[in-house]
Amino acid sequence: MDANFGVRIAGTGRAVPDKILTNEDLSHIVDTTDEWITTRSGIKRRHVITDDQKNSDFASEAGRKALEDAGIKAEDLDFIIIATVTGDFIFPSTAVVVQEMLGAKNASAWDMSAACTGWLFAISQAKALLASGAGKTALVIGSEMLTRITNWKDRSTCVLFGDGSGAVVLQACAPEDNGILSTWTRSDGSLIHLLNAPIGGTAVPLTHENLESGLNKITMAGREVFKHAVRNMGQAAIEALIKAGVSASDVDLLIPHQANIRIIDALASRLDFPPEKVYKNIQEYGNTSAASIPIALDEARSKGVAKSGDKILMVAFGGGLTWGSALIQI
Ligand code: UT7
Repeated sequence: MDANFGVRIAGTGRAVPDKILTNEDLSHIVDTTDEWITTRSGIKRRHVITDDQKNSDFASEAGRKALEDAGIKAEDLDFIIIATVTGDFIFPSTAVVVQEMLGAKNASAWDMSAACTGWLFAISQAKALLASGAGKTALVIGSEMLTRITNWKDRSTCVLFGDGSGAVVLQACAPEDNGILSTWTRSDGSLIHLLNAPIGGTAVPLTHENLESGLNKITMAGREVFKHAVRNMGQAAIEALIKAGVSASDVDLLIPHQANIRIIDALASRLDFPPEKVYKNIQEYGNTSAASIPIALDEARSKGVAKSGDKILMVAFGGGLTWGSALIQI
């Protein structure tokens, strides 16, 4: 017996640290200017965690808000998936920490590692689980504390990243109420070296000797990544539309991963999306990796930019390389 349920978005939430680091603040840390950061990336400020805070604090707060929004109790969750590459620990997963914080005692919980595209990979996985009848309710969180793995001596990367968490509650529903119209994901492991933290894992463990290299932090070939991002996000957007049988002109809002305003503008122009249909909040948060789309989705809903019934196309790109998309109707 093959069940085939629809899957709908029942609620959203977000949580970011209070502490803000401005471009002006960064100009006292590395050789940079507000003008360079603004024109090259579109970022003006980013939220950053303090020494006494951790990923699970924000992931659980975003999750709690999404549950409240959905009117669902934590005990009713079957799955908790957290997309992150900056979890509390090497193991166990941050999802089990959040499970305990929320009191979701009937759930199974695990992390998803696909860098900035992680939350879309997690949505795709949760949709497949719920559509198959494996469970009824999933909490899917994107949560990153990238400033913990930022090299504060590398001006080409340290100006780009911020911290935060975003969450959605997904629920199995009747096929006619389906709200996840399509998902599409892809990766290319031949391009690991373009965006990674080369040491500090089990391949090259951190030692006293290699610590100073900074290679346990984010390294990125920015220009190369930029080119792949524009091309692959364009492909991902089109694949989601084709899979759903929806034309670009029927999409109400494009929510791209917020990595660089110039990548977002190039993508929108490739897809022929007018500026008023493209959601941008990179100026406030910087690149929050797997959290960027769920933060933007919740913010767009709370500002009334994304309204009930709207079709929203979400597209991301990140280390791996990974890229993917989802077309939803809220
Ligand atoms: O989230 C996942 C994926 N990540 C991305 O999508 C990021 C993709 N890449 C980018 O967004 C852009 O490549 C960056 C914003 C990282 C860099 O912009 P760019 O236009 O590609 O600059 P660039 O790396 O080519 O550097 C241009 C110049 C260089 O100086 P020279 O060699 O031309 O003299 C850099 O040294 O800008 C210099 N530079 C800076 N100057 C002031 C690099 N970083 C800085 C800085 N402040 N922070």
